[in-house]
Amino acid sequence: MAIHDSSETMDLMLQHASVRNFTDEKIPTETLHAIIEAGRAASSWKNFQSYSIISVSKQATKEQIYAFQPQKSILAASHFLVFVGDLNRAEKAVKLHTPDFYPDGSENLLISSVDASLAAQNTLLAAESLGYGGVIVGLIRDQAADISKILDLPDYTYPIFGLALGVPAQSNAVKPRLPYETVVFEETYQVQEASVITAYDQLQQDYAGERRAGSSWSERVAAQFGQVPQSATLENLRDKKLMKKHHKI
Ligand SMILES: Cc1cc2nc3c(=O)[nH]c(=O)nc-3n(C[C@H](O)[C@H](O)[C@H](O)COP(=O)(O)O)c2cc1C
Repeated sequence: MAIHDSSETMDLMLQHASVRNFTDEKIPTETLHAIIEAGRAASSWKNFQSYSIISVSKQATKEQIYAFQPQKSILAASHFLVFVGDLNRAEKAVKLHTPDFYPDGSENLLISSVDASLAAQNTLLAAESLGYGGVIVGLIRDQAADISKILDLPDYTYPIFGLALGVPAQSNAVKPRLPYETVVFEETYQVQEASVITAYDQLQQDYAGERRAGSSWSERVAAQFGQVPQSATLENLRDKKLMKKHHKI
């Protein structure tokens, strides 16, 4: 599809590629502060801002997290920002007015997860606009309880993902997205044929070349959604009083 309208911001967005290798250079504190403030300008559900951000810069803490989730980007990052779904502040606000508090369940999880995600994407984009790079690290959820312990997360909070930020040591090619028509529909939903998937497998393979030999995009989708989800998230949500014991997902 030809792009007729563009802006510096859109050009920056279209250049996005996750960065997993960083130099030793640190992001100056004031710069990081400014990046996060830009991130926090994102919209949130009713302006509730149901998330917190734990900025991890101590190498010892990064190593603790890495011990549970060994991804090099965590260690190499200047800062590892952990985005936390947070109804702990909400509890304080609610209790000013009523003893009733219902923080659990899927609707509330969506509220806090969406709020945090919008802020995180804004944060990453702000960092990229200054020449920094980063990657979202969602697999920390596989060890949600351990990560929560390291970060002292209280009741009504849960780690959603980390955002490793730093000075890129290496830049990656932009990954092709699914075709526009596969994802964006006019007026009503259009269920897609499997041929759309195999065509994208081919596109991804052409992009990835040797690096992805043996594993296609749809095989990776199957590896994720073709098995029962990991249970660490649910267990941690129950522990933090964000899911009732009888909730199955
Ligand atoms: C919620 C979420 C979790 C992610 N978790 C990880 C992760 O644990 N490790 C990783 O290397 N990349 C992770 N990523 C990055 C994606 O793999 C990456 O965004 C995707 O492959 C598209 O590539 P791009 O960002 O370079 O365009 C995550 C992205 C999102 C949005």
